[in-house]
Amino acid sequence: MHRIAVKPITGCTPTGAASMPHRPVNTTSVITRGLAARTAAQVRGDEAVATRIIDAGIPASQFLTDSFQRGLAHWNRERLEPGFPVADWQRTLDRDVRMQRLEGGFLEELREEVAEEAAAAPTDVEGFIAWFEELKASGPGQHDALFPWLAEQANLDQLRWFFEQEAAGEAGFDDLVAMTQVKLPTLPKLELARNYWDEMGRGNAKGMHGPMLNALVETLAVNPVIENTLWQSLALANAMTAMATNRRYAWQSVGALGVIELTAPDRSAATAKGLRRLGFSDKERRYFDLHAVLDIKHSEDWNREAIRPAVEEDPRRATAMAEGALIRLKCGERCFEAYRAPAHQCGRHQRQAVGVAAQVRRRIRRFQITPALMRTLRSGLYEHQRRIDVNRDPAALRLAEAEDRRACDELVLDDPE
Ligand SMILES: [Fe+2]
Ligand SMILES: [Fe+2]
Repeated sequence: MHRIAVKPITGCTPTGAASMPHRPVNTTSVITRGLAARTAAQVRGDEAVATRIIDAGIPASQFLTDSFQRGLAHWNRERLEPGFPVADWQRTLDRDVRMQRLEGGFLEELREEVAEEAAAAPTDVEGFIAWFEELKASGPGQHDALFPWLAEQANLDQLRWFFEQEAAGEAGFDDLVAMTQVKLPTLPKLELARNYWDEMGRGNAKGMHGPMLNALVETLAVNPVIENTLWQSLALANAMTAMATNRRYAWQSVGALGVIELTAPDRSAATAKGLRRLGFSDKERRYFDLHAVLDIKHSEDWNREAIRPAVEEDPRRATAMAEGALIRLKCGERCFEAYRAPAHQCGRHQRQAVGVAAQVRRRIRRFQITPALMRTLRSGLYEHQRRIDVNRDPAALRLAEAEDRRACDELVLDDPE
């Protein structure tokens, strides 16, 4: 038996992601303490019974959990890091194969969630473009109340907490585009190249979007690390990375990146408005102001130059792009829901921030920011969100990170076959 295989739960349909209509039925609920909310296998005679953490109302996905998403996020960070040849590369390769199987299971579960809706999308060019553009108005997570609240009401601490989550979940749009364009047909490849060149500031380091985002991380004095990030945000980044790095999901990735361009302007404008209200300068708001405008053009170009010729050439790509777009929007929707409840509860702790933001920013000290919010979070969080803890010092974070890696190695999950 493969090391990660847990044979079907007694009396249930197989739970391998490819075969599951999602949710195992006879799952035993357990409460565990400590680091990894991991799935355990208890073997009784010939039967294997998967035991996993569930909460009332929480889907018992083995992938939509804190421990799995953190493990996948650490693995992505390590495997994409430029490195050097190492003596034990075979061990790394074994681990990569194992993680790729799990990553594939995760993606297949996300695909299954949207498959019906994606299959209903038109596959003719005009029909598909119209369907795709309609996602801006009625796609999952669109017009979430979180963004007007950020624009009009959130205080500085709340906005910083939101931004930290978003920055930690940012997979690097430029690299996703770069990885997606490999071996694409000429016209889509050219459009991805133009988009990438904009991400690169058209050759000017000061205009590069990634460093622009990093500058805001410094301005807001946030520390976007995996350990302080909700699994929903990590799942979004992990899903985008999985689509961009696995060629079998290349068209899903084109759809997912395209829907970011389609939907980012409104969210960016709301965030920029919140920053402006709190006294941040034009320069400090630049990343969001820029994307509120530039992505409108990027979206038009992407739809016309990448999506249209791709579908003209092969209508099957429409369904794949629909899947990718819906996966991205569903992941985003899960983030907004996870952000919204604690953020709104914390709303009563708002303080008057307009006009004093510049002074406050200078006084910001790491981890002094949102005790009330984090208390709210901790009390309301599910088991797999429990480890969000802003009070840990850097040494504790490093320890948690090392433990995460071990936990990732120890994950016992249904073999996604
Ligand atoms: Fe950008
Ligand atoms: Fe863009």
